[in-house]
Amino acid sequence: MRGRIPDSFIDDLLARVDIVDVIEQRVPLKKAGRDWSARCPFHDERSPSFTVSPVKQFYHCFGCGAHGSAIKFLMDYDRLEFVDAVEELAARVGLKVPYEGGRREVREDSSELFELLDGAAGFYRRALAQSEKARAYFERRGVDEATRTRFGLGYAPDAWDGILQALGRTPQRIALLDKAGMLAGEGGKRYDRFRDRVMFPILDRRGRTIAFGGRVMGKDDGPKYLNSPETPLFHKGQELFGLWQVREAHQKITRLLVVEGYMDVIALHQAGITQAVATLGTATTREHAEILFRNAADVFFCFDGDRAGRQAAWRAVESVLPRMRDGRQAWFLFLPDGEDPDSLVRQEGAAGFEQRLKAATPLSTFFFAEVGKESDLASLEGKARLAARARPLIAQIPEGAFRDLMEGELERLSGTRMPGGTPAAVAPLIARASAEARASRPPQRSLVRTAVALLVQNPALGAAIEPPWTFAELRQPGVPLLIELIGLARSRPGVTTGALIEHFGEREERAALQKLAVMPFPGDTQAWQAEFAGALAQLDRQARLQRRDDLQRKLAESSLSPAENDELRSLLAVGGR
Ligand code: UTP
Ligand code: MN
Repeated sequence: MRGRIPDSFIDDLLARVDIVDVIEQRVPLKKAGRDWSARCPFHDERSPSFTVSPVKQFYHCFGCGAHGSAIKFLMDYDRLEFVDAVEELAARVGLKVPYEGGRREVREDSSELFELLDGAAGFYRRALAQSEKARAYFERRGVDEATRTRFGLGYAPDAWDGILQALGRTPQRIALLDKAGMLAGEGGKRYDRFRDRVMFPILDRRGRTIAFGGRVMGKDDGPKYLNSPETPLFHKGQELFGLWQVREAHQKITRLLVVEGYMDVIALHQAGITQAVATLGTATTREHAEILFRNAADVFFCFDGDRAGRQAAWRAVESVLPRMRDGRQAWFLFLPDGEDPDSLVRQEGAAGFEQRLKAATPLSTFFFAEVGKESDLASLEGKARLAARARPLIAQIPEGAFRDLMEGELERLSGTRMPGGTPAAVAPLIARASAEARASRPPQRSLVRTAVALLVQNPALGAAIEPPWTFAELRQPGVPLLIELIGLARSRPGVTTGALIEHFGEREERAALQKLAVMPFPGDTQAWQAEFAGALAQLDRQARLQRRDDLQRKLAESSLSPAENDELRSLLAVGGR
């Protein structure tokens, strides 16, 4: 893991970048009162419902609900991971991102490593241009010139010191080559890791070379594929070969295809199926699943049809389930014996391969087929076994319609109910009823909600609130959140709405806060201040009533200490006003 980026740095960063500048470089904005507006870049629309608030340092789309800080915008629009979005913004304003604990040195010399690997890729490309044999290999496999260029393919010459001679002139450079995973051997006897192989550069999310795969051209020349080892830049469980090329080819990625091999990705792209990526000789990890779904809502996994293929597919299921938020869909495509996507797309063309994708198995179908495999569903024992296997897995699916439906299907198959589950037939009815209720009712404005909304929109309000806070004792939903927000506002004077929400990272409160951040309040700062103070005063009063009731109940059940007696007397004297 990388070290953590301190919250205080995120605040500082968000205080220095202007979200309007960041967004305007990517989406043309028009001034609309105090805010800026545009047609939403996250969904198709004719009239602009996307607004950017310079005051709140926050964007929001009233059409699709997209919203967040400058960091969130970069994550969604440029499809960056959190850390990369932070790095990008920091670079804009000339800040260096600090990392707490973890591997701080990772980032410190990373620019040198990137440069070196870029040099290595260039070296291999030039060697390909000079190697008759390597070019003939790609020729034989039908990889055309344009595709070779698009993927930056190369050739590692048949020498022990090719890359060493080219890039390892000084001991420091040799150490760096080693750190980048380009060398093999022990101690003083270092030599090129990749020799006489065709080379596939692996690019990161920003198109920088971070590692290589190399394939032998003949048989019996050692392992067929050799990959870079794990290095500070390369963690194979987090990278997908081809993702950079997919992004280059598409403004908006509607689907991704996950295949097993380098050549599968390359053949599919060349055939026009330009949404193919590959894991790098590993099973699909949860990190992969998150990256896949961050880029596209629909993901197809292609596997061999044999036993090993189905096992690999099941591991993908396990990685994907915790990421199956509503709106995301996964399918599984099992290929005929002895074929891979490369061979199939060459035989059947893109149209043939698309036909196969159309017939792919939905995640839910594959899931129940696998968990039910060794269970005889005609017997009670079989049903119980199915339920025992499926339950813990279904429980990992994030809350939502998909989980409800999976629970319903399990219930139908096994005749058992998930604890707390809703029967499938009823779930959609409940969902519809509550959606209707939400639509017809004005947004509910409990006191706590009002206070939280006002505070998120005007963090300065919180800075003025001095302890002690009687309302902190209130047993009501949202009170702990309110306390936390006041604490944040007080400890970070000048914090903006966007920065405040960013503090919540992936926590579940985040979604609610984002909604509250755009809840309309009439009036001006002064009116909001009064409303906020009024809400807190009422909450204080409720807390006193709660305390009074507690004490009275205790009195009825047992007895009160002298101090409690005094307290109750004074609470009763103030009365229920
Ligand atoms: P395959 O053996 O299915 O190879 O390995 P392929 O992609 O079809 O290769 P071609 O068509 O023979 O060139 C699939 C993936 O598994 C990893 C590589 O990432 C490869 O692309 N692998 C395979 C290795 O890492 N090492 C190996 O020795 C073999
Ligand atoms: Mn192959």
